[in-house]
Amino acid sequence: MAALADRIASFFSGNDSTTDEGLRDLFITELKSVYYTENQAVDALGKQAKASTTDEVRSAFLQHQEQSRTHVDRLEEIFKIIGIRSEERVSEGINGLIDDVERTIASTESGSLTRDAGLIIGAQTIEHYEIAIYGSLLTLARVLDFTQSAELLEKTLAEEKETDRRLTELAETFVNKRSKEEEDQHPGSHHASRQPIVNADVTAGGPLGI
Ligand SMILES: [Fe+2]
Repeated sequence: MAALADRIASFFSGNDSTTDEGLRDLFITELKSVYYTENQAVDALGKQAKASTTDEVRSAFLQHQEQSRTHVDRLEEIFKIIGIRSEERVSEGINGLIDDVERTIASTESGSLTRDAGLIIGAQTIEHYEIAIYGSLLTLARVLDFTQSAELLEKTLAEEKETDRRLTELAETFVNKRSKEEEDQHPGSHHASRQPIVNADVTAGGPLGI
């Protein structure tokens, strides 16, 4: 048996056949899991669009739903490329995140801006979860030399990051708009002095940046 250091070196260069086999299985497991995740996201985004208060948030969810359908198609293409049939693996991760969003819907008033703020937070949490899975899948695909699959995963990952950026923008517009409304309704209130939020870094503090 090769020394540990050699095995680690082969692992990262993708030359160890036993490791390759293990990584291929792991790739397939994760692929099935993200396939389930995307399918669940398509359903959940439809419900979230229905529950939203403002047109901006509703249309963001509907666009995101459409994009998730494309991601499902791409995953089916990857299943084909690696020669196995498309299959879902239940992911408790996404189930939990979707449950959280449903609880947010249940605990906020229909037609309120708080409802939309909660929905944006939920959507962005799911987005970050997807980015994490796609990032890992892409790494595995590269190590395994699954070139075609890696190209498809790269496309999806780039789109997920773009959606994340748009959700941050939406949150910024949303908070600024709300501050403005509060300023108009209650001049001189403590909210009135709130500065518009620009370039909030979601990775540093959450989508609303406050
Ligand atoms: Fe997606």
